[in-house]
Amino acid sequence: MSPLSKNFVRASLIYFFIAAILGVLMIFMKGYPAQLLFAHVHLNLLGWMSMIVFGVGYHILPRFSGTPLAYPKLGNLQFYLANIGLVGMVSFRPLHPLAEIFAIVLVVSAGLFVFNIWMSLLPPKPEPE
Ligand code: HEM
Ligand code: HEM
Repeated sequence: MSPLSKNFVRASLIYFFIAAILGVLMIFMKGYPAQLLFAHVHLNLLGWMSMIVFGVGYHILPRFSGTPLAYPKLGNLQFYLANIGLVGMVSFRPLHPLAEIFAIVLVVSAGLFVFNIWMSLLPPKPEPE
């Protein structure tokens, strides 16, 4: 497994554990702030679910199509943007201006993943003779 995939899987496991702790906290609190729900939901759905999909996807999807990952360095950039975006976004209230900036970082990272996998699924160009 590439370091990129391993990093995503490791990050997803950490976010899952943190999100689970926040979920349990919410059960114990009598009424919880909206920000806690926001963090729980997105650490689970972007941190745990999306990142495990990124990690496993980078490994398996190009292999399914018999082609290498089109842009491995772009994958590394996407790893940093996804993590910075997520940690940044859940550190602020949902509609805080800084959360908006990190939300844009997250959308860019999602676009990079889509682009990279899309390009990886294209049939390889024939070798010039
Ligand atoms: C230890 C595990 C978990 C605990 C203790 C937990 C706990 C909670 C609690 C207390 C709420 C608030 C419910 C309410 O007040 O209506 C909640 C909401 C939510 N949780 Fe979790 N949760 C856990 C795992 C997960 C996982 C694995 C996911 C997704 C992959 C998830 C996704 C959500 C979502 C989307 C909501 C918001 C639902 C809504 O919009 O009303 N949770 N969770
Ligand atoms: C670019 C990434 C994302 C951004 C910027 C974003 C942003 C937001 C914002 C601003 C809210 C409203 C929070 C509030 O008003 O309290 C929200 C709610 C929610 N988002 Fe996301 N989100 C993203 C990705 C996702 C993904 C990938 C999922 C699911 C797979 C998801 C599931 C939810 C759910 C279930 C809620 C409702 C939570 C609640 O009950 O308050 N989001 N999101």
